[in-house]
Amino acid sequence: MAETGRSPFPSTIFIILHLLLSHLFVSATSGGSPFVFNDFRGSNLTLTGSAIVTGPGALRLTNNSNILSSGYTGHAFYPMPLRFRDPSLVNRTFSFSSRFIFAIVSEMQNSGCCGFAFTVAPSSDLPTAVAGNFMGLVNKSTDGKPSNHIFAVEFDTLSGSSANDPDGNHVGVDINSVTSNFTEPAAYYTDESTNQTINLQSGESLQAWIDYDGVSGLINITIAPLSHPLRPHRPLISYPLNLSPLLQEFMYVGFSSSTKLLISEHYILAWSFAINGEAPPLDLSKLPRYPKIKPTGKTSRLLPYTSTLALFLVTTIAIASYLLYRRWRLYSESVEEWELDYPHRFPYKELYRATKGFREKELLGRGGFGSVYKGVLPSSGLEVAVKKVTNGATQGMREFVAEISSLGRMRHRNLVQLQGWCRRGEDLLLVYDFMVNGSLDTFLFNQQKVLLSWKERFKILKGIASGLLYLHEGWEQVVVHRDIKASNVLLDADMNGKLSDFGLAKFYDHGSNPQTTRVVGTLGYMAPELSQTGKATTSADVFSFGALLLEVACGRRPMDYKKSEEEVMVVDWVLMCWRRGRILHAVDERLGMNYVREEAELVLKLGILCSQAAPEARPSMMQVVQFLKRDASMEDFVVENLVMESDCRSFEQVVLAYPSSDRLSLSSL
Ligand SMILES: *[C@@H]1O[C@H](CO)[C@@H](O)[C@H](O)[C@H]1NC(C)=O
Ligand SMILES: *[C@@H]1O[C@H](CO)[C@@H](O)[C@H](O)[C@H]1NC(C)=O
Ligand SMILES: *[C@@H]1O[C@H](CO)[C@@H](O)[C@H](O)[C@H]1NC(C)=O
Ligand SMILES: *[C@@H]1O[C@H](CO)[C@@H](O)[C@H](O)[C@H]1NC(C)=O
Ligand SMILES: *[C@@H]1O[C@H](CO)[C@@H](O)[C@H](O)[C@H]1NC(C)=O
Ligand SMILES: *[C@@H]1O[C@H](CO)[C@@H](O)[C@H](O)[C@H]1NC(C)=O
Ligand SMILES: *[C@@H]1O[C@H](CO)[C@@H](O)[C@H](O)[C@H]1NC(C)=O
Ligand SMILES: *[C@@H]1O[C@H](CO)[C@@H](O)[C@H](O)[C@H]1NC(C)=O
Repeated sequence: MAETGRSPFPSTIFIILHLLLSHLFVSATSGGSPFVFNDFRGSNLTLTGSAIVTGPGALRLTNNSNILSSGYTGHAFYPMPLRFRDPSLVNRTFSFSSRFIFAIVSEMQNSGCCGFAFTVAPSSDLPTAVAGNFMGLVNKSTDGKPSNHIFAVEFDTLSGSSANDPDGNHVGVDINSVTSNFTEPAAYYTDESTNQTINLQSGESLQAWIDYDGVSGLINITIAPLSHPLRPHRPLISYPLNLSPLLQEFMYVGFSSSTKLLISEHYILAWSFAINGEAPPLDLSKLPRYPKIKPTGKTSRLLPYTSTLALFLVTTIAIASYLLYRRWRLYSESVEEWELDYPHRFPYKELYRATKGFREKELLGRGGFGSVYKGVLPSSGLEVAVKKVTNGATQGMREFVAEISSLGRMRHRNLVQLQGWCRRGEDLLLVYDFMVNGSLDTFLFNQQKVLLSWKERFKILKGIASGLLYLHEGWEQVVVHRDIKASNVLLDADMNGKLSDFGLAKFYDHGSNPQTTRVVGTLGYMAPELSQTGKATTSADVFSFGALLLEVACGRRPMDYKKSEEEVMVVDWVLMCWRRGRILHAVDERLGMNYVREEAELVLKLGILCSQAAPEARPSMMQVVQFLKRDASMEDFVVENLVMESDCRSFEQVVLAYPSSDRLSLSSL
C-alpha cells in the first residue's frame, strides 16, 4: 500500500517536467536558430523535387529513379528564413556554424552523380534550377550571376562538372555558381600534416562541419568518417571569404542535390545549425538507418551469385575442416613426456602412411601379440614390418617401452632388427626390418612352398641357436625369449634364420597384475615346469628350442593329433626311434636320403636332450651352440647327464616325465 501510494507522485512531476522541457525545445527549434535534428521525423522541412523523409527518419534528397536521363533535383530547407546579418553592420554578416551527417549511396560505386551542397539561398524554392552538374542550384543562364545570392559548400562526385573541379571526389566553396572558388579532394587530417583520403560515395556515413567567422571572414570546412567522431583539429578547407556582399538579411538554409543518368541517393541523417554560436552536438548513437546496399540495380542482380559463391565457400571450408579434422584424428597422438626419453620413437603419422592406414591388404599375419603389417617408411623408403600390439591397458607401457627401446640397441645377425616403436593410446607399434621370405613354419608346413633342403635347415637352426645364445648371454642383461617356435623364426632373402618377437612376452607381465603372472608360450614348445612355477627361465627357452630342433628335422609339428597315438608327441616318437637304434627314421621323409646323417643325428638327439622335463638336465644355450658347431661332443654330455639323473630317475623316466595328465593340463591352458 505504502509503495503504490508514494510512487506516482515523483513520476508525475517527472512527466510534467519532461513535457515542459520538450515543448520548450520544440518551440526553440521551430522558432529559428539554433536547431538540431537527430533524425527528420516530423521535422516540417520544406522539401521540393525528389526529396523525402524516409520511414526511419533519414532525409533523402534524391531517389534511385533512373527513368529520366535529365535526372532529378531535390531540395530540403529549414522552413523559416534565418537572420544572417544586421543591416546596420555594412561590411559583415553574422557567424554561423553547421554540422551534419551525410551518406552518398551510388548504384555503381564511384560513378554516381552528381553530389549535394549545403546551401544558403534567398528562397526555399529553386524551381528554375537544373539537375546534373548544376546541382539544383542554378541554371545555365543564371550560373555565376551576382543576383543569385547563393552560397554553397558542394560535395561533388562528378569530375569535370566545372573548370575548377579536381576530380570526382571533392569538397568546394561555391559563390553564385557551380564553378567553385576553392576546392580540395575529400580527405581529413589525422594530425597537422598527414591527411587521409575519404571516398564520398563509399556509402558510409560521413560527418561534416561548416564554420564561418563573420568577423575575420574565414570559412572552415571539415569532414571525417564516423569512426573519427571528434572534429579533426585541422580543417580540410580554411578559406578567407567575405559573405557580406552575398547574404541578405534573411536567408534560407538547407541542402540541394541532383542526379543525372548515373544515380546516387543522397542522404542527410542528422543536422544542426546555429547563428553566432556553435552548432549543437549530434546524437551519433541514434542515426536513422538507410540502405547501404541498394535493393535494386546491378549490385542486387549480382546478389544471387554472391550468395551462391558464399554458400559454396562456406561448404568448401566446412568440408576442408572436416577432412582436416579427420586427418588430425587419424594421425593424432598424445605424446607423453616420458616417451621423448626413449630413442627410436616413430611419429604415428609416419607408420600410418607406411602401412597405407593399416590396410587389410598390407596385413602379413596375426599372432598372439597382435597384427603385423607390411610397410614402406615414407622418409627412407625402407621396407618394414609394423607389429601392432594391443595390451588393453596403458599401465606398464612406460616400463615396457623402456625395455623395448633398450632391446632396440641389440645387434645380432640372427635377431630381427627392431627399428623403433610408437605408442598410441593402448597400442604399441613396433617397427622391425622386413623379412622377405616370411616365417619358417610356412616353409615347413605349407605344401606350396619349396621344400627346405637339409643344408638350409641346419643353417637356420645354427643361426637361431646363436641368436638365442646372444639373448641369454651376450647382452648386458639376460633376455628370455619365452616364445621360441617356427613361426617366430623369420627368413631373410638369403634364407638366414632370424629370431623375432624377443622380449615381447614381457609386455603382458607389465600390463597384468604382478601377482598372477600369465604363462606365455605356445603349447608343445612350453617347458612343463612353467605351468607350476610360471617363471620364465633360459632353460625354458632351451626346452622350446629343443622342440624347434625336432620340428625342423622331422618336418612335423611338436604335437600332431592326426598321427597314431605313439607319434602324437614328436618327442615320444623320436625317443622311440632312438631307443630302437634307428633315430634317423624320424627325419623328414620328404628329404629322402638328401641329408647329412651325422648332422641329422646330432639335431635329433640334441632335441631330445633339450626337451627333458627336468630343467637342470637340459644343456645351456652355450652348450647347444657348441654341440651344433661340433666344438664339443654331445655324447659326453648325454652320458654325464644320464648318469647324474639315473641316481633318482632313469633316463627314460626323465624323458617320459610328460605324463598324459600334464599334457592335458597344458592343452587346457
Ligand atoms: C523519384 O522522385 C521523382 C520526383 O519526385 C518521382 O517522380 C519518382 O517517382 C521517384 N522515384 C522513385 C523510385 O521514388
Ligand atoms: C511548417 O513550416 C511552415 C512553412 O513552410 C509553417 O508555416 C508552419 O507553421 C510550420 N509548422 C510547424 C509545426 O512548425
Ligand atoms: C568595408 O566596406 C567598405 C566598402 O564596402 C570597404 O571599403 C572596406 O574595405 C570594408 N572593410 C573591411 C574591413 O572589409
Ligand atoms: C534560369 O533561371 C531563371 C531565373 O531563375 C529563369 O528566368 C530562366 O528561365 C531559367 N532558364 C532556364 C533555361 O531554365
Ligand atoms: C569567387 O568569388 C568571388 C566573389 O567573392 C567571385 O567574384 C568570383 O568570380 C568567384 N569565382 C572564382 C572562380 O574565383
Ligand atoms: C593529402 O596528402 C597528399 C600527400 O600526402 C597530398 O598530395 C594532398 O594534396 C593532400 N590533400 C590535402 C587536402 O591536403
Ligand atoms: C578555422 O580554422 C583555423 C585553422 O585551423 C582556425 O584558426 C580558426 O579558428 C577556424 N575558424 C573557425 C570559425 O572555426
Ligand atoms: C627368398 O627371397 C628371395 C628374395 O625375394 C628370393 O629370391 C628367393 O627365391 C626366396 N627364397 C625362397 C626359398 O623362396
